[in-house]
Amino acid sequence: VIVVGCGFHFASIYLKVLEEYAGRLELVLAVDLKCEEHRVRQTFTMAAVSPQAYLFLPDKLRVHPKLDELRVAFATKPEAAEADAILICTEPKAHKAFALWAVERGLAVFMDKPISAFDEYQNVNSIDTDFADILAASLQHAARVVISCERRLHYGYRYVDAFLRDFIRRYRVPITYVNVHFGGGVWVMPWEFEHLENHPLKYGYGVLLHSGYHYVDLVARFAELNCAVRDVALDKPRVNVNASFPSDLFDSVGDEIYERLFSNRSIHETVRNVDRARLKGYGEVDFSAIGSYRAAGRKCLDFSLQLIGTTVAARENPERLTGRQPTNGRMRQEEVIIHLGNFCSLSVHSSPFTNVDPRGSIDDFNITIAMNPRVTQGPRVLRIDRAGLSRIYRELPGNAVLNVLARKGLLRGFLDGDASASELSSHRHSVTLLAELLRELRRSHAAA
Ligand SMILES: NC(=O)c1ccc[n+]([C@@H]2O[C@H](COP(=O)([O-])OP(=O)(O)OC[C@H]3O[C@@H](n4cnc5c(N)ncnc54)[C@H](O)[C@@H]3O)[C@@H](O)[C@H]2O)c1
Repeated sequence: VIVVGCGFHFASIYLKVLEEYAGRLELVLAVDLKCEEHRVRQTFTMAAVSPQAYLFLPDKLRVHPKLDELRVAFATKPEAAEADAILICTEPKAHKAFALWAVERGLAVFMDKPISAFDEYQNVNSIDTDFADILAASLQHAARVVISCERRLHYGYRYVDAFLRDFIRRYRVPITYVNVHFGGGVWVMPWEFEHLENHPLKYGYGVLLHSGYHYVDLVARFAELNCAVRDVALDKPRVNVNASFPSDLFDSVGDEIYERLFSNRSIHETVRNVDRARLKGYGEVDFSAIGSYRAAGRKCLDFSLQLIGTTVAARENPERLTGRQPTNGRMRQEEVIIHLGNFCSLSVHSSPFTNVDPRGSIDDFNITIAMNPRVTQGPRVLRIDRAGLSRIYRELPGNAVLNVLARKGLLRGFLDGDASASELSSHRHSVTLLAELLRELRRSHAAA
């Protein structure tokens, strides 16, 4: 195996899985940027697997490296020729060239979501073409590509998916409405926007290409479920969007609020001195959309999507920027509501807050299902909490964190060569919806 991008996510999740395979798997090459060499070598000092060789690339290859540049760089490392598979764990702005380099050698690819990010604010159409190019190359070279997108294997969403499939098949009632609300809960200081490389905004993309992809994927997959009873036009979602950008944040949560909450005078000056003109063209911090899918020219499913980065966070020491500071104290919120006409409503609520609430359970995931008496002889309301999920799935430990377990499970399945719930080809309709949301965002932003 080759790993590209030995950052926080790799070290905290994937490296642990590679350690389980120690003795059965060889890490032939670890690739990262030259500027991160010290930290990356440190990452492996205590690990049960360590790479046979390292490849440290010049910093100029951080953003949208070219395939030719990677061919030249990898050619310097004979170990690369030993690999059967590659894990691509960088920010999406570097995914495509690494994926193409790997599939043209027939390597199996495991890659973080989202599949790619565009290189310039106006180039949103590259989202569709990147997907098509990687898929075409993977088919041509018979190379497998799996996307790490954990809600595909998450026990809570597996239950929801199985319930909905069964309900739609049994009663031939489609999903009529989906509402998704995500709260990012990461507090980025106004002066940090310029520096972020992980989940950046300065390259023109924002929450939609960060965590937002998970929720776009959920909506597209709920629309796919309706194909059991309707001929849904999955390639033609209709959307209207609204978004806030970093400069809008200065208007709504401006320097007077920082002045009141921080006693440190240099903070006020730093906030006041942030050059707002430089923020032009930055990606969205908060995003919302309403939209619909049609079937045979008629309305089939409505949805609304709120991807809100600006929500409560518990970051400590916000004055100091060190390491991964913005994600320290992250407080994610997630709510999904699904209606199937007047016959069933299902909701998911998950606001773990475990890092800030000592009374919080190990994880928080609650499903409520209410059914019309015409479709059930049994209980009309089902409530399943985190402990209930472990009673349904006996193999699910009560103390497992569902997202982490799913991410690890996706990688284990990939390494074992099992069929995956997240093959690249299965992301087609999610990418279609994502690209349409981004195009509409650009159109509305240009018109504003
Ligand atoms: N599935 C999830 O829910 C989930 C959770 C966390 C992160 N992620 C994804 O994982 C990715 C990485 O996140 P992270 O938190 O580890 O970020 P990070 O910045 O800590 O790590 C990224 C690593 O990649 C390296 N890198 C960046 N560009 C490179 C390039 N061109 N060539 C070689 N190395 C390069 C960086 O130096 C760094 O070591 C992101 O795309 C993020 O969206 C997904």
